[in-house]
Formats: sequence, C-alpha cells, structure tokens
Amino acid sequence: MSLRLSVSLPLSLLSLSFASIVSAQSASLSPAAQAAQAGASQPLSPSFAGFGLEPSNLYSFTGGSRNNDLTSNLLNTLTQYSGAPPAFRIGGNTGDYMIYDESYNGYQLRENANSQGAGAIASDSSYFGPTYFEVIDRCFPAGTPIAYQLNMAWDGDGYIENVVRQAQAAVDRFTNVQLQSFEMGNEPDLWLQNGFRTGSWDGQVYTEQWLERVAAVYSRVLQPAGIRSNFFEPPATASTMGTTFEINTLVEYGITEPGNNAPNGYVSAWNQHDYFYFITVTPYPITLDHLQVLRNTENQFRYWESQVAQAMGTGLPYHLREMSSVGPIGQEGVSDTFGASLWTLNFFLYTATLNISSVQMHMTDNSFASPWQPDRRYDRDPHVRPNYYAYTAMAQLIGSGNGTTQVARLAMPGLPPNYGDSVRCYSVYRDGSLSAIVMINSKPSNASETNKASLTFDLALPSSLAGEALYLSYLTAPGGDSQTGTTWNGFSYEESNDGIPTVVSDTVQTVPISSDGSARVSVRDSEALVANVGFRLGDRAVLAPNGSTTASSSSSQTRTRSAASSAESTRNAAIVTAAATTTVALLGSATPEAAEGQRRRASLARHRRGMGGEE
Ligand SMILES: *[C@@H]1O[C@H](CO)[C@@H](O)[C@H](O)[C@H]1NC(C)=O
Ligand SMILES: *[C@@H]1O[C@H](CO)[C@@H](O)[C@H](O)[C@H]1NC(C)=O
Ligand SMILES: *[C@@H]1O[C@H](CO)[C@@H](O)[C@H](O)[C@H]1NC(C)=O
Ligand SMILES: *[C@@H]1O[C@H](CO)[C@@H](O)[C@H](O)[C@H]1NC(C)=O
Repeated sequence: MSLRLSVSLPLSLLSLSFASIVSAQSASLSPAAQAAQAGASQPLSPSFAGFGLEPSNLYSFTGGSRNNDLTSNLLNTLTQYSGAPPAFRIGGNTGDYMIYDESYNGYQLRENANSQGAGAIASDSSYFGPTYFEVIDRCFPAGTPIAYQLNMAWDGDGYIENVVRQAQAAVDRFTNVQLQSFEMGNEPDLWLQNGFRTGSWDGQVYTEQWLERVAAVYSRVLQPAGIRSNFFEPPATASTMGTTFEINTLVEYGITEPGNNAPNGYVSAWNQHDYFYFITVTPYPITLDHLQVLRNTENQFRYWESQVAQAMGTGLPYHLREMSSVGPIGQEGVSDTFGASLWTLNFFLYTATLNISSVQMHMTDNSFASPWQPDRRYDRDPHVRPNYYAYTAMAQLIGSGNGTTQVARLAMPGLPPNYGDSVRCYSVYRDGSLSAIVMINSKPSNASETNKASLTFDLALPSSLAGEALYLSYLTAPGGDSQTGTTWNGFSYEESNDGIPTVVSDTVQTVPISSDGSARVSVRDSEALVANVGFRLGDRAVLAPNGSTTASSSSSQTRTRSAASSAESTRNAAIVTAAATTTVALLGSATPEAAEGQRRRASLARHRRGMGGEE
C-alpha cells in the first residue's frame, strides 16, 4: 500500500489535496468483520510477548539467595493479563561461556581460573551450579515456557558428557517453570569471528556437530524421561552477510532429518536473532526520531521476513528469540523512552501479523532497553522502563480474546503524508470476529511540546456492531522522549517500588458506534490507542490454557498481591488523580558509572557481532 501522492498529479490538484489533508489530519479505517477476510494472523499464544535473559545476568533479574520481587511481580501481572506467563529464552553469548558443575552451590557464576576452551572469551570461562535452576523456578510464574540454551561452543575433552550433564540438570531441576526446548549454541554463524571455531566452519559443519550433540541429549536425557526427540531449536543465522546458516540452507544440510530412534527428527522450532539497531555495527547513528519512524522497522526487518517465510515453508514455528531496539545494551535517551514503548508495541503486532510464534526482547541487567532495571546501578534503584507498558498492552489485548486473538494490518486511506511513516494500525479478532482496533501514532512529539497535534481516525465498522460502544485504552506518556510517567489503560507500573500496578485514572472512556457502524476517535502524536468493542480491556476474566481463569485486572481498585507475599494479600492501590508527572532524577551521562558503561558497551559490541550486519 502506498500512501505517497503520485507526482504525476496536476499541481493544482496536488495542492488542493494537500490542503484538505492537512486541515483534516485524519485517516479512515475499515476493518473487515471477520478474521478470514482480513488475512489475519494465526491465534496468538498468551506467552507471545516474552523476554530473553542473558545467562550471565540471571541472578540480577531473579535475585540471588533472596527473590527479586520486582521481577516476579512484573511477570505475574503479564500472566494475569494474557492468561499465561510470557515465554522466556535463557540464552545469549554468555551461555556459550558457562559449564555446569553439580557440586557448586553459589548464587553467582564462579570464574574458571584455568579455562582451556577456545574463544576470545573462553567457552569454559565460568561455572554455574544447581542454584541457577532454583532461582528461575522461584522467581518466574508457574508454567513459564523456557527455551534454554546449552553450551555448544565448548568442544574440548568430554564435550558430549558436558552437554548431557547440563541438559539433565535442566530436565531434573526445572519443576515450577516449563522447559519447552533446548537451544543448542548461540549464533554459530559468528563463531569464526569470536574464536569458538577455526578452520572449516560453516552451516554444514555446524549441522553435523549440532546433530551429534542433540542425538546424545535425546538418547541419554530426553528419551529416558519420556520427552520427545523434536525438542531442539537450531539458532539460524544472526547476520545477513554471506551466511550459510539460513533456514533453507540448514535444511539442505539435513538439520531436520530423522535420526536413530527419532523418526520426527530433533527440531521443534526455528530460533533467530535480530536487532533493530546494533551499536558499532549499524553504520549510522541511532536517534529517537529514527526509532519512532515505524516504516524503518519494516525496512530493517525485510531480510528477516524472508527467513520467516523459509520457516513457514518447513511447517515448523519461528521464534524471534533475541531482539531489541538497540543492542547490545540499549541507548540511553532512545531505548529507555516512551517512543521505544510505542516501537515495542508496534513490533509485537507487526511480527504477530507475520505469524512469528513469539518474540523475546533481550535483557541484560545493564541494558537501557530492558523493560526494567533489576538492581541498583547507574546511580539508580531498580525501576520499570516505558517499554514494559507495551508488554502490558499486548498482554491485555491477547487476554481479551481468551486464546483466540488474531491480528491483521489495517490500510489507512487518507492518512496525511506527514504521518505516513509513523502511524500503523491493526485490527484484532476474537473468535474470528472483529473485537478491537489498535492505532499507534508514533509521530515524534516530546514532553516539552505543549501544543501536541492529534490524528483523527474515522472508523467504518461492521454494521453488526451498531449500538455497541468502543472502550478506549491509551498507552501514553508526557511525550515520546519521556523516561518516566508512562501509563497504560489507566495504570502505572512504576509508581510502586515493587512493580505492583497502581491506578492513575479510573475514568472509563467510551465512544458509541453509530447505526451505520461509524465511530470517530483521535490519537495524540506519540501515543497509542486500543479501542475495544463492548468492554474495557482487563475488565473480564481471562481463560488460561490450563482451563483456570485469571482475575479481571481493572474492574476494581483493589489489587491482589502476588503469591510471593501472603501477609499482605491485598492492598489498596494508591490513587493518583493527576496525570503522572513524577520526575525521577535522571541518569547523568557524566557519571563515572555511565562512562564505564559506555566503554563496556563498546567493547561488548565489538566482541559480540564481529562482522555480522544487522541491516
Ligand atoms: C498466518 O497464518 C494464517 C493461518 O493461521 C494464514 O491465514 C495467514 O495467511 C498467515 N499469514 C502469513 C503472513 O503467513
Ligand atoms: C493455570 O495457569 C495459570 C496462569 O498461568 C496459573 O496462574 C495457575 O496456577 C494454573 N493452574 C494450575 C492448576 O496449574
Ligand atoms: C473468557 O472466559 C471466561 C471463562 O469462560 C469468561 O468468564 C470470560 O468472560 C471470558 N473473557 C472474555 C474476554 O471473553
Ligand atoms: C525530542 O527528544 C529527542 C530525545 O531527547 C531528541 O533527539 C529530539 O531532537 C527532540 N525533538 C525535538 C523536536 O525537540
């Protein structure tokens, strides 16, 4: 769909249409009544919007010997909203630096002073023990789906024993969370650059080594436990240049072939990684304005769309298990702003329309892109960042369909050209019928802009909805550059210290649908709106996949505390009537910590991606 005006129009007509467009500043949306007519996605998993956790940072996010309640509470809220816990990947570069040692009981990694492994950072740099599994089990909601990475980089003595031991520990020790798959190795296409392999190394050699390891884990760990053989995710290419690790190529090399006693083969799903922007790799500077232009997301992801299509061709699910606005550790003033929250919500919906099965935004404890900072650093206490709110919006949207939510992209006829690259809209379906419209107006407008413009949407809804009401839920903040003060659907998740939701506005806003199906809403620049038919998001209980229901979340101002603390089982949410305008002391970029962060970021980035291109 092109929204650009044709240059061949006569000048008079051109200026006329510009004039009318500019004065109206509106667009029309005509969503199809049924998902099938809309070309909608597959139904979204309630675990769709998930998190990737860098293995070396596990203890900061979960807590060491004491639980990190902020993390637990934030995850419990998402579980309540969508009906199931967000999907987690425990994996990343550092997953290939760690060796499992059953006898080690510390609540942190133990450095290996005598590392022998290959690699710029050796593949046996550190040890971890059983507490690793214990803290995940303790901190994450029951049933959290886990894709867990095994160390494949280590290829010294006993490499099979080693990977079998690590897999056995995961199978035995995850009891509260649900181990869903093993990822074997992280980003093997970059292993010549980071020194894990030398000599001949390509997708074919990788496939051979991968199959040897997964066959051993299957016959020695999974099969005895009664677990299926197709339990593994091969990490497909993480770079776009000259790669022999594309999905189709790995299939040609035989990665999906049946094995001995494994007629269904070993692959459960494809596992791929991308970053919208990667510092020191992407060849232009990152700015908030660039992130807020949503067309840039589609341009950046075009190559990866071809990988998704290859995955669909194999009939296996595709998970985007590592993603972020800015890698490796975000960019202050970009990835920790409200603009990044709008980017995140759009990214979830856009990837849903591509039938990607789940997205894990990558988290490190020092990343400005992580939806929350789990511990004290950069002179700041733990806190929730604006992009967490994109998760809450997505979770309530998914939950509102009780397991049947589907998403489709919406055409926006009449959209003024100055909005064309910054606005994206989606229709949402419940039980196959239209249930909501999402309008994301990411046009930059900073907090300091006192006279913010708005875009009006003229909705032409199916006449069967005449007489119903649209319930409006806003994802908003003082401006695109705001680092605090975001709200979603009248809730704040940062007013409390522990991530428990706080009501900031309990006004229910509705718009009637006229007898001809029309309705009109408007969305401020740098804001998103979900207009849900018939009820406010969160007001209805959500059916969990296991058949239980999670309580409605916004019908009452009394919130149930997480199971973790029984003494205070309920608590009256603080009611803050004024729009959230709290400003928290912002991180001064001149502090020594920040300078150190900058240095570490740069070296990590150099190390991380080698020559891999993101674009
Ligand atoms: C996504 O899956 C649905 C079926 O579940 C299909 O109708 C739709 O065409 C698919 N979309 C894409 C982009 O593959
Ligand atoms: C069912 O799933 C919900 C949401 O994940 C969870 O809170 C609940 O404990 C589960 N119930 C059972 C009986 O497993
Ligand atoms: C989901 O199902 C539960 C249990 O049947 C029901 O109470 C609830 O209203 C449903 N929610 C929605 C959004 O339809
Ligand atoms: C809005 O804020 C961002 C981030 O600080 C900045 O890059 C941009 O130039 C600002 N835009 C305007 C119009 O001031």
